[in-house]
Amino acid sequence: MATWSAPGKVFLFGEHAVVYGKPGVAMAIKPRVFVTVRKSRNPTRPKSPYIDECFRMMGVRGSVYVHSQLQSSSGLGSSAAVTVATLSAINDEFNLGHAREYIAETAFAIEKKVQKGRASPTDTYVCANGGMVLITGNSKRRLPPENLQVVVGNTLVSHSTAKMVEQVGNLRRKHPEVANPILDAIGALTLAALHNIGNPKELGQYMDMNHALLEALGVGHPASSKLVLAARASGAYGAKITGAGGGGCIIALCPRRAKSRVAGAIEACEGRAIITTIDTDGARKEKHD
Ligand code: MEV
Repeated sequence: MATWSAPGKVFLFGEHAVVYGKPGVAMAIKPRVFVTVRKSRNPTRPKSPYIDECFRMMGVRGSVYVHSQLQSSSGLGSSAAVTVATLSAINDEFNLGHAREYIAETAFAIEKKVQKGRASPTDTYVCANGGMVLITGNSKRRLPPENLQVVVGNTLVSHSTAKMVEQVGNLRRKHPEVANPILDAIGALTLAALHNIGNPKELGQYMDMNHALLEALGVGHPASSKLVLAARASGAYGAKITGAGGGGCIIALCPRRAKSRVAGAIEACEGRAIITTIDTDGARKEKHD
C-alpha cells in the first residue's frame, strides 16, 4: 500500500494572460489531496475519470482511497493534485520507477484527455514540483520560495475553467483593441511584481491592479468582489481573484498579524477561508506499508 499527496495551487499573478503567452506566477499551497493505492485483484475506487485514466496510462490495476483538503471546481487545482498524487502512488506501489517530470507530463496528458483538450500545464507542474513558478509561454521556471502569508477565500460558487477561458477568447475576438491591451497590462504588472517579490506591501498593490484587470476581462463575479473587498477592508495588503474567475476563489496577501482577521471577514461574507502559505514539497510520499 502506498500513500502519496500533492498540493493545491494559486495564481499570484497572470491567470488568463498566460494562455496568450504572457508571464504569470503560480504558487503551491499547503492544503493537499492524499491518495492511497493498493495492489488488488478486486479493485475498488472512487468514480473519477482522472483516476481511471491514471490506471489505464500506467497499465496496472489497484484499489484507491482519496482524502482531499481541496474543494473541486474552485480553481485550486484539485483535479491536477488528485491526478499527480494517484500517479505517484501507483508508481510507488508497483515499483515503476518513473521520475517526477514523467509524472507531471503524464498528469497533464490525462487532464487534457479528461477535459477534452483544455488543461492547465501550470496546475500539474506546480502541484508535482511545489514552490513558486514563473510561467512564460511553454517554459516554467522555479523561483526562490517566498514566505508569503496568504488567505484563500472560496466563494463556493463553482465555475468552469474551460468556459471562462472561452469567454476571454470570445472577448478577444470581438474586441481585440480592448482585450489585448488588458492582457499586455497583466503581463507588465506580473513582471513589475517579480521585481518586488520580497515586498508584500508592494505585491498587494499589484494584486489589486491585477484584480481590476481581470474584472475588465469579464471574469469577475459578485461573490468574488465581495470577498476581495472584505479582505482589503480587514487589513490585507491586496486581494484578487485566483484562477479562472466567474466564482471560484480569491487570494489575499496579508501581514501575519492580520491573517485571522481577514479569514473572519471572508467567512462573515459567506465565503470559506483557508489560512495558508507556500508549499515547497510538491508531490510527497506519506507512507508505504
Ligand atoms: C486557471 O487556473 C488559470 C487560467 O489561466 C487557465 C490556464 O492557465 O490554463 C485561466
